[in-house]
Amino acid sequence: MLNRPYTIITSEVTVDGKLTLYRGASSKELMTLMDIEAYKYLHQIRAKVDAIMVGCETVRTDNPSLTVRYVEGKNPIRVIPCGSGNIPTDANIFSKEAPTWVLTTPRMPEETKKAIEEKGHKVFVFEKDRLDFKEIWQFLWEKGIKSILVEGGSYVNWQLVKNKLVDEIRLIHLPVVVGGEDIPTLVGGEGFKSLSKLLHLRLRAHFVRGRQLITEWEVVKDKSF
Ligand SMILES: NC(=O)c1ccc[n+]([C@@H]2O[C@H](COP(=O)([O-])OP(=O)(O)OC[C@H]3O[C@@H](n4cnc5c(N)ncnc54)[C@H](OP(=O)(O)O)[C@@H]3O)[C@@H](O)[C@H]2O)c1
Repeated sequence: MLNRPYTIITSEVTVDGKLTLYRGASSKELMTLMDIEAYKYLHQIRAKVDAIMVGCETVRTDNPSLTVRYVEGKNPIRVIPCGSGNIPTDANIFSKEAPTWVLTTPRMPEETKKAIEEKGHKVFVFEKDRLDFKEIWQFLWEKGIKSILVEGGSYVNWQLVKNKLVDEIRLIHLPVVVGGEDIPTLVGGEGFKSLSKLLHLRLRAHFVRGRQLITEWEVVKDKSF
């Protein structure tokens, strides 16, 4: 059994499961539909975990801060998987408010690594060309991360689902339909393509916060995969 952090995926999703308006669009635009109660819900989760993760593409398109602002509480460590190392060194995740760890490969340019470290943040270089999420989840555990909130995007969510690293999925439902092909949905990647492999979930709670429906799902360990 892999020693790994307790893992929660949380996301705002439209009724048709989309994360954003079109491929390449910042989800911040859709998030303007959320009211303060939804932000408080999200930030309460942030304040309870040791670490928070988004993929490198979300850093490039959304430029999130990933800090706790709508409730009282500590900022989690910001962890960013970024195989290419193509990450803007002036991104908001490199603010002084919280530590940031970038997990990367030898493809990261040396000057990017240096610039991040000069800002007081950490870069961990893994030897393979792609990051192995099972390996990095064990690595995070060994570094003292016992719980982690993953806020997307679509591709990172797939890495977690595919590698059986998820314990819960919590959704903030936006009461809109975006439509369209090729738009990031909650979970992307190649998909399971087989009924026998699907991730099974059990609805643990559902409630309304402000204008939003929130659903909280637990992964059913004995049925999935
Ligand atoms: N509604 C919401 O709650 C929400 C939340 C987050 C994001 N979003 C939206 O989702 C979209 C981004 O999602 P996305 O699926 O395109 O990207 P993503 O999951 O944010 O990031 C994918 C990137 O992460 C890095 N990465 C992931 N797995 C890796 C691995 N195994 N090895 C090495 N690097 C790895 C790679 O960066 P490199 O290619 O640089 O190596 C990869 O391209 C944006 O439009 C954003 O606005 C919405």
